[in-house]
Amino acid sequence: MRVSSTLSILFTAALVAAEEQHEHEQFQFITGVNRTLPIKLKASPVCGEFSSQNFTEANTGVTLNATKTIVAFGDSWTSNGSNGTIPFAPIVFPPNPSAGARLGNNFRARASNGYVWVEDLANTLGAKLIDYSVGGAVVDLAAWNSTNKGVTFTSDNLLRTDFVAETALFLQQGKYLADLNPDTTLYTVQFGINDYNQYSLLGGDWDLAATSFLQQISILQANGAKNFLIHWVYFTRNVTDAFQNVVHQGLQTAHAENGTNFATVNLANLFTAIQASPAEWGYTNTTCLASQNFTDFGCNDPDRSIFYIPSHPSATTHEILNQYTILTMEKCI
Ligand SMILES: *[C@@H]1O[C@H](CO)[C@@H](O)[C@H](O)[C@H]1NC(C)=O
Ligand SMILES: *[C@@H]1O[C@H](CO)[C@@H](O)[C@H](O)[C@H]1NC(C)=O
Ligand SMILES: *[C@@H]1O[C@H](CO)[C@@H](O)[C@H](O)[C@H]1NC(C)=O
Ligand SMILES: *[C@@H]1O[C@H](CO)[C@@H](O)[C@H](O)[C@H]1NC(C)=O
Ligand SMILES: *[C@@H]1O[C@H](CO)[C@@H](O)[C@H](O)[C@H]1NC(C)=O
Ligand SMILES: *[C@@H]1O[C@H](CO)[C@@H](O)[C@H](O)[C@H]1NC(C)=O
Ligand SMILES: *[C@@H]1O[C@H](CO)[C@@H](O)[C@H](O)[C@H]1NC(C)=O
Ligand SMILES: *[C@@H]1O[C@H](CO)[C@@H](O)[C@H](O)[C@H]1NC(C)=O
Ligand SMILES: *[C@@H]1O[C@H](CO)[C@@H](O)[C@H](O)[C@H]1NC(C)=O
Ligand SMILES: *[C@@H]1O[C@H](CO)[C@@H](O)[C@H](O)[C@H]1NC(C)=O
Repeated sequence: MRVSSTLSILFTAALVAAEEQHEHEQFQFITGVNRTLPIKLKASPVCGEFSSQNFTEANTGVTLNATKTIVAFGDSWTSNGSNGTIPFAPIVFPPNPSAGARLGNNFRARASNGYVWVEDLANTLGAKLIDYSVGGAVVDLAAWNSTNKGVTFTSDNLLRTDFVAETALFLQQGKYLADLNPDTTLYTVQFGINDYNQYSLLGGDWDLAATSFLQQISILQANGAKNFLIHWVYFTRNVTDAFQNVVHQGLQTAHAENGTNFATVNLANLFTAIQASPAEWGYTNTTCLASQNFTDFGCNDPDRSIFYIPSHPSATTHEILNQYTILTMEKCI
């Protein structure tokens, strides 16, 4: 398989003075890949009022340039391949089209062919990242009929976990891994895809999921969190819309009660725009690999593929997701 000609590969250690780290436009973090992005961000955020009844894109005052530490909660879209405890192998070097594939091994791996969006964000800001995301995670296993009967596994036989467990693990150990100064720590939360999948399988309780989501936000606030970035799911469904409206209203209460800042970014706006005219962005393929277990059936140019494995963004789309997130946080303030 051919490595994209748009990727030149080298290790760069472009270190800049510490005070420049706050100007994220200029910052170039240590990176294993000198990547020339062949895809251009063509979407603009659809800023709404944080006070609106429905979920929207807004930022009550999260300042990215102040961020020194990122604590991430989520699923495979945000996971670096670790399950929260065990640091698995880094991105395969040199990056090849199958770098993110699981190759039939029964353990978790990065669900993309490079950095995921939150790593890109941390690299852009020069921030330390503590990532508690795990592939397949839902908000709360208790919410879904398919996951509420005790220990439960993903479709590929990995332990399924949730935001509740990720938060608990963070409080147990992650909390001690960095200086979590409330003013310079950003907590990112991205759930809903697997909740929708499990709900579609056997039904469940969205109210419980929303309550549980807000409960974790509450626990994190009680432990010092003052700045959150919340991503809404990348698709539009009546049940996820309603769920996100309830969560949004809970965030409003947290903002009013505690002055907690929230930036909310709607991935459905981004992905609707991509899927409306992929060629304009530079995309040539929709999904590169037929499944995460195989390297064959691959596309020639994963950098120009929207997804790398089914329903999981390619590394370039993750970078676009990062750029869209930053743009939204800056524009919708
Ligand atoms: C990375 O690639 C770009 C474009 O080819 C080049 O201009 C730049 O100098 C490279 N960066 C380093 C550190 O080699
Ligand atoms: C971040 O940027 C804002 C707006 O550009 C500026 O007012 C603020 O002082 C900056 N904060 C830091 C910590 O650099
Ligand atoms: C993945 O994240 C975990 C938790 O933050 C960390 O311990 C590990 O070093 C990271 N692994 C990579 C390859 O970045
Ligand atoms: C991928 O491999 C895992 C582990 O061997 C297996 O459980 C799963 O069914 C496989 N999935 C596909 C789509 O082949
Ligand atoms: C993470 O991996 C460790 C070691 O294999 C295992 O003990 C733990 O149960 C795993 N956690 C999850 C959530 O998969
Ligand atoms: C799913 O669980 C809910 C309550 O938690 C129950 O009302 C419903 O009947 C269940 N659905 C199925 C298909 O078992
Ligand atoms: C969502 O839409 C489906 C049809 O697409 C419908 O069957 C269902 O009742 C709707 N659910 C809610 C909560 O509105
Ligand atoms: C708010 O969301 C509800 C439920 O998803 C929807 O029916 C309603 O049209 C939305 N209202 C606005 C003003 O967008
Ligand atoms: C406000 O913060 C406290 C912790 O200081 C937390 O327990 C409470 O749930 C927060 N309120 C909301 C609405 O999140
Ligand atoms: C990817 O796009 C190229 C160019 O449009 C096309 O020839 C190829 O068949 C596509 N591959 C897949 C796996 O869709």
